[in-house]
Amino acid sequence: MSNNIRVGNISDIPSLGARVVKTEKGDIAIFRTEDNKVFALINKCPHKDGSLADGIVHGHKVTCPLHNWNINLEDGKVVAPDEGCAEHFVVNVDAEGNLFLQL
Ligand code: FES
Repeated sequence: MSNNIRVGNISDIPSLGARVVKTEKGDIAIFRTEDNKVFALINKCPHKDGSLADGIVHGHKVTCPLHNWNINLEDGKVVAPDEGCAEHFVVNVDAEGNLFLQL
């Protein structure tokens, strides 16, 4: 059964930034893109566990700070030629900008 938890407001996250939320599934990075979309991935790069929250957000992707793998924020898939997938979570935003993470 999925569980929705409130994880703050979109205004808590700078544009092109991220914040980390501790959950029962581990640390989850919540990203805000330039077009004000919000995405959530486990805060562990599928390569060698780099902190994706410390990466560079561009478009709907994040570049891992350790070895520059690019990960798609929409589904957690690593962009070729690298391979892998970071666990992805759904985040819903209500009319007031409150964020609800679906676990
Ligand atoms: S740990 Fe992310 S690219 Fe290596």
